[in-house]
Amino acid sequence: MSNTVIIGLQWGDEGKGKVVDLLTPGADAVVRFQGGNNAGHTLVIDGQKRVLHLVPSGVLHEKCLCIVGDGVVVDPKVLIDEIEGLKSAGFLKKQAQLCISEKSHVIFPYHVRIDQLWEEKRGTNAIGTTGRGIGPCYEDKISRRGIRMGDLVDSKALKRRLAEVLPEKNEYLEKVLGNKTPFSENEVYEQYNTYGRYLKHYCQDTNGILQKLVGEKRSLLFEGAQGVGLDLDHGTYPFVTSSSTVSGGVMTGAGVPPRAIDEVLGVAKAYATRVGRGPFPTELHDATGEHLQNKGAEFGSTTGRRRRCGWIDLFWMKHAVWLTGCTRMAITKLDVLSGLENIKAAVGYQLNGKKLTAPPSRIEDWEKAEAVYETFSGWSENLEKITRFSALPKACQSYLKAVEDFVGVPISLISVGPERSAHFYREA
Ligand code: IMP
Repeated sequence: MSNTVIIGLQWGDEGKGKVVDLLTPGADAVVRFQGGNNAGHTLVIDGQKRVLHLVPSGVLHEKCLCIVGDGVVVDPKVLIDEIEGLKSAGFLKKQAQLCISEKSHVIFPYHVRIDQLWEEKRGTNAIGTTGRGIGPCYEDKISRRGIRMGDLVDSKALKRRLAEVLPEKNEYLEKVLGNKTPFSENEVYEQYNTYGRYLKHYCQDTNGILQKLVGEKRSLLFEGAQGVGLDLDHGTYPFVTSSSTVSGGVMTGAGVPPRAIDEVLGVAKAYATRVGRGPFPTELHDATGEHLQNKGAEFGSTTGRRRRCGWIDLFWMKHAVWLTGCTRMAITKLDVLSGLENIKAAVGYQLNGKKLTAPPSRIEDWEKAEAVYETFSGWSENLEKITRFSALPKACQSYLKAVEDFVGVPISLISVGPERSAHFYREA
């Protein structure tokens, strides 16, 4: 297998975790390169559901090396709980299976508090973040006040860095956000020093490891989190996450050169969902939206929030394919569309009566953009047991072919249910 980047083409929750798990038997390593525990990658194996927030989705395969790369922001408590949960379920038997970058930034409790208080302060303009401290941690990284994993695992460095940063955080929290209970430097240090001692054994120069793996021509999977619609630069700003969710994020977040990437596999649901606030031109507020929400069990795997549901947005996906250099697509949750008389897909946007040639840049335009649809016949058959493209109902085949034609890349993998086994590859 070649080196493949897995990217969400919509607004996250496309089923990237399942796709990574399916492709892992052909990979030597799976690498997370951005985001943090705002992600929730769900794997369902023999009826057992497991949600991973930080550990790469290749972890259920013993021989696969799992790398948490430089560009990830790590909440050490969440990571330790995840490691312990995996170990007690019989996974991650060898410590060497997991490596965490020394350069990854650490999420501290003040990041979480700042994230939550900012959301409160924004009131009706809240972004609807996951409240996990992701944005404030990336802010510190950019302003060069971050504390990295390499500092966390070194008691002296941790103490020094906290002494530099915490008084300023307490002041900011109190004066700007009205926080009444400052963080005690000693308590944060004691708690995080304990986490550091635990994580020290996993903490490594992951870039050096990647350089070696690329040099040996090993197969790597780069597991994106969130989706292109949430990209800091290219998404529906300011309703975005704080990292680069496009394939370019692999270069910066894992530290590999562009020529090390052979393929970009874009993952999309057969319809669309979004959690949190922000533009969603194909959103449905009717019985069809309810159908998708209920049948697709559309609740956020990190926050449990109800996901907003709508028709697939091919106009956006075509743009996401361009931004990511996507070469193939995986379509997930196709089974959820069964039972609908008609299915719609956005093939353009209209703004103030004019057809757009690309999705808008400004949030004001995003909010006014209206989707232009093409309508397809639906199908009633249950798809969960289908194992070949040619066995899909004809209407379903036509729908998928229209998706490929519009977006401009082939669909190579189709998922028809939450279970690992419910999928098939497209025949040549
Ligand atoms: P943050 O990443 O917690 O700052 O949240 C920013 C926006 O991204 C919010 O709308 C979140 O709901 C959304 N978001 C963050 N991570 C995910 C994800 O993994 N799936 C779907 N939406 C996400």
